[in-house]
Amino acid sequence: MKLVVLVGSMRERSASRFALAVAARGATEAGAEVRWLEIKDLDLPFCDGREDPATYGPAVTTFRAAVAEADALLVGSPEYHGSLSGSLKNAIDLLGTDTLKGRMVGLLAAARGDAGAMNTLNHLRHIFRWVHAWVLPTQVSIPRAAEAFDDGGRAVRPGVEEELLNLGREVVRYARLLAGNGQAYTVTDDRKQ
Ligand SMILES: Cc1cc2nc3c(=O)[nH]c(=O)nc-3n(C[C@H](O)[C@H](O)[C@H](O)COP(=O)(O)O)c2cc1C
Repeated sequence: MKLVVLVGSMRERSASRFALAVAARGATEAGAEVRWLEIKDLDLPFCDGREDPATYGPAVTTFRAAVAEADALLVGSPEYHGSLSGSLKNAIDLLGTDTLKGRMVGLLAAARGDAGAMNTLNHLRHIFRWVHAWVLPTQVSIPRAAEAFDDGGRAVRPGVEEELLNLGREVVRYARLLAGNGQAYTVTDDRKQ
């Protein structure tokens, strides 16, 4: 069971990265082989809508290959103006349906405000559904993100650590169920959306 962690924040001290690290621990405990991908290190170009992604060069090819060989993803984003970060959206655009369809996806997001990151989570859910990924109903929103983790990456508020561990465990559990069911999921209807 291979799982990719996709870090949508480029900040040095990032709450969503801290949260992903806890969720990844849950996934590892559940038996996943975890590969950690930081958008800030991937050196991705902007998606410009070209037909052949291979012509973007090695950074995009390597990124797409890493996701293509994963059964599941844990994706974390900061909330920027009520939505996911632009860098994460660009990365998802570079992946496309051919790479993401049939993958199990667990989501988390972090926001500065009290209201948390529900808009970001809803937008991510919509996007991943659009590319025919399976999005786990379980998700984690981190409000007041600046004070949500200590410097060692431990969740400060009661219950959050367990919520994150559970997200990691569940994404592995449901990816296994999907894989055990004869797999691979295929889109039989090739209509454009
Ligand atoms: C461009 C930008 C837009 C932001 N928009 C929001 C927002 O709409 N709501 C909010 O609560 N916080 C907003 N924030 C604050 C971030 O959500 C907050 O810093 C969060 O911790 C970022 O996640 P990270 O710690 O993983 O980088 C914004 C920050 C930036 C840089």
